[in-house]
Amino acid sequence: MELLLLVCVFSLGVAAPADGPNSTYDTIVIGLGSAGTTAATELAQSGRKVLALEAHDRVGGRVHTVPFGDGLVELGAEWIHGNVSSRTYALAVKHNIDTKLQPLSTDPYRSDGTKPDVALVTELLNLDFTEEHPDPPEAVGTFVTKKFMEYITKNKPDLLKDQDFITEFLEFSNLQTNTMEASNDWNDVTTGDLYEQLGGPQTISWHRHGYKTFFDIMLNKYNNGSGLPNLDIKLNTEVTRIITPQHPNETVTVECKDGSSYTAKHAIVTVSLGVLKATHTTFFSPPLPVEKRTAIEKISIGVVGKVILSFDKPWWPKDITLFAFIWKGDDKKKVSADDYWTTRILGAHPPMGSNNTLTLWTSGEVAKQVEKLPEDIVKTKCVALLQRFMGDALKITMPAPTGFLRSTWYSNPYTRGSYTYDNLQAPRYPLARKWLSYPLLDSAGEPRVLFAGEATNERHFSTVHGASETGRREAERLLSANDPGRGRKL
Ligand SMILES: Cc1cc2nc3c(=O)[nH]c(=O)nc-3n(C[C@H](O)[C@H](O)[C@H](O)COP(=O)(O)OP(=O)(O)OC[C@H]3O[C@@H](n4cnc5c(N)ncnc54)[C@H](O)[C@@H]3O)c2cc1C
Ligand SMILES: *[C@@H]1O[C@H](CO)[C@@H](O)[C@H](O)[C@H]1NC(C)=O
Ligand SMILES: *[C@@H]1O[C@H](CO)[C@@H](O)[C@H](O)[C@H]1NC(C)=O
Ligand SMILES: *[C@@H]1O[C@H](CO)[C@@H](O)[C@H](O)[C@H]1NC(C)=O
Ligand SMILES: *[C@@H]1O[C@H](CO)[C@@H](O)[C@H](O)[C@H]1NC(C)=O
Repeated sequence: MELLLLVCVFSLGVAAPADGPNSTYDTIVIGLGSAGTTAATELAQSGRKVLALEAHDRVGGRVHTVPFGDGLVELGAEWIHGNVSSRTYALAVKHNIDTKLQPLSTDPYRSDGTKPDVALVTELLNLDFTEEHPDPPEAVGTFVTKKFMEYITKNKPDLLKDQDFITEFLEFSNLQTNTMEASNDWNDVTTGDLYEQLGGPQTISWHRHGYKTFFDIMLNKYNNGSGLPNLDIKLNTEVTRIITPQHPNETVTVECKDGSSYTAKHAIVTVSLGVLKATHTTFFSPPLPVEKRTAIEKISIGVVGKVILSFDKPWWPKDITLFAFIWKGDDKKKVSADDYWTTRILGAHPPMGSNNTLTLWTSGEVAKQVEKLPEDIVKTKCVALLQRFMGDALKITMPAPTGFLRSTWYSNPYTRGSYTYDNLQAPRYPLARKWLSYPLLDSAGEPRVLFAGEATNERHFSTVHGASETGRREAERLLSANDPGRGRKL
């Protein structure tokens, strides 16, 4: 009891400003993922006093580089998607970091151990209907199936006799969409999405540098940098409540789980949509306005997951980006209900940061399930899966893995999902992401609590560069709001 009391008094002591109200921060940034780190560092570099509060014991959020195999792997974001006007790519170039393009090549295998007609599968995989936006919008699965059938009817009429192949291929395409969108089924995703790719190659890798280098650079830690004097970072600090002031003279109050609380003129909230969905009713005082609550409810955040295995040495063909697993209907029927999840794994991908490592990609409900299954089961079944698809074709008996790692983006209370996608409702709520991005204003109309994060980016959601853009957007909002010379065009 006494001890508890002491702890309590101690944390209050820590939280109290050291030298009166004038020492409070200009801005408190909540969350140090791509959006939060961009906002915090841009404000600090512009001379603002910034406090950043991060629940994890590390910076990076959904970017998480981990030493593994004979190098490192990414549990979260894997690639820089596009090199034209990309904040991530531009920073790498500026610091002379040699990023590497991972060439897009798929090597398909079937569940009976045979190789499919590789030229045919490659031709069909290269059909890309994602840039087409039918009016009115449709479910992606419905639309792609229709376009696919039109294509083979016109160009591959013989295939129409092989209904089993068509079904297998479309099932694989479904998984491919889910692994890209974080959806559970391609019919949950709309063709009416507003996503725009940046120009250039979509699979640029930080390879042995690791994606975490992006954060080292922003925080001025790269190459033994000395950090940023205007930025205080507190890790292991979960924020539980934000009190938005109504009166211009009052500060924003940010309360933390450890009992500490901090005040500042502004706060920028960058927690994921999953965290907002789970906590917003208690997180914000007063409660959020109706547009924002609607946006939080209507936008979807899905799950993409990774099971990462290392081996004594690589046993797979070089220069392949994806060993694709294409199930045959008959084989699938023989799999027990307990093992259903093994039929919904896209395939194996050799990450560029480690030479002796393969990543198996999961998505949707199966990704959630794989996070919770016992480790030995996941490991054993994944090795069996590699054996089933690749063993015969490569004439090898699968060696036991030397290392095992898996992502937990859904069960992690500080992410509660991997990234957002535009679901079937999205076309009816075209302003939802904008609503999510609007700041909460005080009675003088000044922005006091601001919002950033991938979900608030209308065109570049679900990416690291898109999240970073929103951090910059909110830093700019504050910098221009307080600088009469620059006007307030935001
Ligand atoms: C498996 C996977 C693969 C991906 N692949 C790619 C890819 O190849 N390329 C790409 O561009 N993008 C990819 N993404 C998406 C990309 O990682 C995200 O869009 C981006 O990192 C999100 O950044 P953010 O700042 O919006 O959110 P986050 O990174 O989630 O940052 C929010 C931060 O807030 C913290 N936080 C949460 N709650 C609290 C609280 N209560 N108090 C304090 N702190 C809190 C979190 O710990 C986190 O650090 C991938 C994501 C996943 C999961
Ligand atoms: C983007 O990558 C392509 C292909 O590697 C390259 O030709 C182009 O010059 C790059 N663009 C930029 C802006 O670096
Ligand atoms: C950074 O510091 C470490 C330890 O002082 C040193 O070994 C290393 O060479 C330095 N790296 C660079 C790039 O200066
Ligand atoms: C707000 O602050 C200003 C300047 O410090 C002061 O003149 C004014 O009286 C304050 N208003 C209230 C309602 O506290
Ligand atoms: C990994 O492979 C690359 C390319 O073959 C090579 O340059 C690198 O040295 C290898 N690294 C290790 C640790 O084997």
